[in-house]
Amino acid sequence: MEQLWIKGERRLQGDAFINGAKNAAVAVIPAAILANDICIIENLPYIDDVISLSEAMNELGVKTEFLDRHTLRIDSRNINNFQAVYESVKKIRASYYLLGALLGRYKQAEVAFPGGCNFGVRPIDQHIKGFEALGAEVIVEHGMIRAKADRLIGTSIYLDVVSVGATINLMLAAVLAEGTTILENAAKEPHVVDTANFLNSMGANIKGAGTDVIRIIGVEKLHGSTYMIIPDQIEAGTLMIAGAITQGDVKVCNIIPKHMESVTAKLQEMGAEVIEGDDFIRVRSTGRLNSIHLKTLPYPGFPTDMQPQMSALLSVAKGTSIITESVWENRFQYMSELKRLGAQVKVEGRVAVVEGVERLSAAEVSALDLRAGAAMVVAALAAQGESKITNVQYIDRGYEELEVKLRSLGADIRRVQVSSEKKVPRQRILEPVLEKKII
Ligand code: EPU
Repeated sequence: MEQLWIKGERRLQGDAFINGAKNAAVAVIPAAILANDICIIENLPYIDDVISLSEAMNELGVKTEFLDRHTLRIDSRNINNFQAVYESVKKIRASYYLLGALLGRYKQAEVAFPGGCNFGVRPIDQHIKGFEALGAEVIVEHGMIRAKADRLIGTSIYLDVVSVGATINLMLAAVLAEGTTILENAAKEPHVVDTANFLNSMGANIKGAGTDVIRIIGVEKLHGSTYMIIPDQIEAGTLMIAGAITQGDVKVCNIIPKHMESVTAKLQEMGAEVIEGDDFIRVRSTGRLNSIHLKTLPYPGFPTDMQPQMSALLSVAKGTSIITESVWENRFQYMSELKRLGAQVKVEGRVAVVEGVERLSAAEVSALDLRAGAAMVVAALAAQGESKITNVQYIDRGYEELEVKLRSLGADIRRVQVSSEKKVPRQRILEPVLEKKII
């Protein structure tokens, strides 16, 4: 078991380079199934979710190969299995994209439910409703979702909730359908647009991605493509907040500032100095920031995936902040851990009231999920003393070498092996591939 040990109160300063977006990666990789050809995906983050997904694709007969740490070659010409069992998808929450991709290409798919999530149930009723509207029969039994169709025929689908997953999954299922599909009340997140751009680069005909109406004209087939995915807005936001909470000066580089507008606006409202360039944002702060009120919303609103890290920052702001979580039902569980670091928080349903304190104090805390883990790291960077963060595997699902980046900014953070049960370092999984390439 690994832990992150962080000695807080070090001012962070310098440049941090942001990797590709996790939530674009986990959609674009399965989308390559639709091609019956070879796709090369560049700028992928080298994180556990990407590795697990590429392994799950291999089980289907797709050949995936890392050409280097951030580039994956996907050959989907010899798929011989339309079933992704629990064992191969249990670690990937976004495994449901295999369903849309397999259904789109083969008109049949069976994918295991990935299991619950640490911040509550993750329903997929809107995905299923959409598949059915396209003409598929969908049965959920024995922990598997089975979808089958003779033909998929384009239609109008209105999503009852704005769902990133349903929007992407229905694009995947509809690109090869007969006729036109119109998705209304679609999600507008940058990774929705990125997935549509990738599909279009393979020959799909998708218009309107990034607005709430997406029009997909079915095409007969798709071809291979080389595609570079967008930078990770949540990794960028996490490091911006790490800069702000340590009263530091951090420049996040290799990003699309437009994707960061809601985070930037909130940091400015708190009194941080934010300087924006074409592909970077620099965050400077020289003292305690002011409290604010915050409500999470689908894009372009403030992202729920930044809510825990922002709460960490607000826990040391001057005054009282009110945070409303409107996307997920139960995303404040980590507050119990934040309190262990000295935060003063009251949670009532979907609302948290955070009374800013002057200083947090180090403690042993658990990363309850990916972003909760990121919040613990951010809070520990500001806490007095040495904090120990357990359950680091959640953080590794979505951040590539977070501690290396933070260390290069001046943080005192190290990864520590605490029991005899050794985890194979992720580097070792890649080594044989790299060795082969280098020779
Ligand atoms: N919802 C339904 N029915 C559905 C689908 C969603 O009721 O069929 C509800 C959910 O319960 C939730 C809301 O709609 O209340 C939004 O869910 P959405 O479908 O947008 O979430 P998702 O696609 O499962 C993605 C990200 C999450 C991120 C959310 C919201 C990926 C792989 N995951 O999840 O990211 O929180 O959108 O932006 O793209 C993370 O990166 O840490 C993470 C959890």
